[in-house]
Amino acid sequence: MIKLTHITNGNYTEPAMAISKGKLVAFGTETVYGLGGNAQDDHAVARIFAAKGRPSFNPLISHVPDIETAFTYGLETPLARKLADSFWPGPMTLIMTKPENSPISDLATAGLDSVAIRVPAKESAREFLKACATPIAAPSANRSGRVSPTLAAHVAEELGDAEHLAMILDFGPSENGLESTVIDARGDNIIILRPGSITQEMLKSIAPVVEMGLDKGIISPGQLESHYAPEKPVLLNINTPDEGDIHIGFGASHGQFNLSPQGDLVEAAAHLYHHLREADKAEGSRITVAPIPHDGLGIAINDRLMRASASH
Ligand code: TXA
Ligand code: MG
Repeated sequence: MIKLTHITNGNYTEPAMAISKGKLVAFGTETVYGLGGNAQDDHAVARIFAAKGRPSFNPLISHVPDIETAFTYGLETPLARKLADSFWPGPMTLIMTKPENSPISDLATAGLDSVAIRVPAKESAREFLKACATPIAAPSANRSGRVSPTLAAHVAEELGDAEHLAMILDFGPSENGLESTVIDARGDNIIILRPGSITQEMLKSIAPVVEMGLDKGIISPGQLESHYAPEKPVLLNINTPDEGDIHIGFGASHGQFNLSPQGDLVEAAAHLYHHLREADKAEGSRITVAPIPHDGLGIAINDRLMRASASH
């Protein structure tokens, strides 16, 4: 079982090094503990999903140490700037347009053209993020379907034996205990996608508020219109494609693309969005995809592929 790490001298070199190697580091924030990985590294992001055991890829929040860094990864709007100046650092996540050529992994944003960014209030969390010098993708550090952890010890119980988890940074209790308020800040109105401790009451002096999350439940990426789906029809579970098909292989089923020639599911998840995009651009009228084993990360990969194929 992994031990908790206490950093008392403000030196975050070791966790930052682990992040740069594609490892995972759990860390405290004022809302809940997050399971962090380099948001620019598809493999690290795939490892987060594998550790959580989620049956689908939902988009993750990228954490950064300050407001100016936040606006290098999400397109600034007047509304986003006002919200940032009022509530960052703090328990608020802003959905912004993902700039073209964004270095953030497509897997971290679940193929969306938007990105979720947060500047946490907890000082030690921001010091850690600063040392990493890359946005840190982090969902709550619990296994899928379990409650979010507010103590480092909870993380150890939940994910202590997770593969690739290098360390759990004990930053003390999460004072807030509730996940951040998620706000779509791309337009003129504040759209609350997930309620949190930055309340409608607190927000309404800034701009008109529309609450989406409350009665409809948390918006899942499947419900988001802009969720990436290829233009071409996608056929699943194909071992031998027809001539003219653009085939995305897996393991021994080879094609123009291969999610993982070794049949490794973490690698396949890391390549998934990229290959879907490239296949969509390639010469040919339809995309075929090899069968993917339906266990571990394969369940989330198949979920994503089903959505891509059902959208036609
Ligand atoms: O307080 C928190 O927000 C914690 C700490 C670790 O920062 N993190 C957290 O992450 O709760 P997670 O992955 O459990 O929840 C992220 C939420 C999900 O509801 C997800 O759908 C939404 O943010 N989200 C992320 N990117 C989005 C996007 N581009 N569009 C809409 N919703 C998005
Ligand atoms: Mg969560």
